[in-house]
Amino acid sequence: MNQPENLSSNPSLPTSPVSRRDFLDWVIKGGLFATLAGMLFPALAYLWPVTRRGPAGGLVEVGTVDEIHVWGSKKVVLGGSALIVVRTPAEFKAFSAICTHLGCIVYWDSAKQLIACPCHAGFFGLDGRVVSGPPPRPLATHPVSVVDGKIFVKP
Ligand code: FES
Repeated sequence: MNQPENLSSNPSLPTSPVSRRDFLDWVIKGGLFATLAGMLFPALAYLWPVTRRGPAGGLVEVGTVDEIHVWGSKKVVLGGSALIVVRTPAEFKAFSAICTHLGCIVYWDSAKQLIACPCHAGFFGLDGRVVSGPPPRPLATHPVSVVDGKIFVKP
């Protein structure tokens, strides 16, 4: 009559250094660790100091301070809208680059220190108000923040 062999005592079979119980313990502990890390990482990222990743409030980086010289400008597209960022000796300002008359793209006239529209000679001041020409309304302004040499604008 054949007797079942005792497999664990069979020297020809490879023995595993990790038991099934130990393996399952590692799987469960790994799953718990992954779950906790997945919950803690977003909370810690939220609490991390704001200056490390730029200002809060939906502002978007549009460049560095070095890219725009004083009394210079840069055009950017944010959220599908054209904006113009102007640097004065004291600050950065951002405006919609769409003229309020018939929608032409404005540019910065550094000689006049005004925002100019090439279509019908409309001019806007550094507060966005119409200085001269046919535009019926001021240019929309956008909040600007400078953090660690980077320029952020709210779309
Ligand atoms: S479209 Fe700008 S002044 Fe007419």
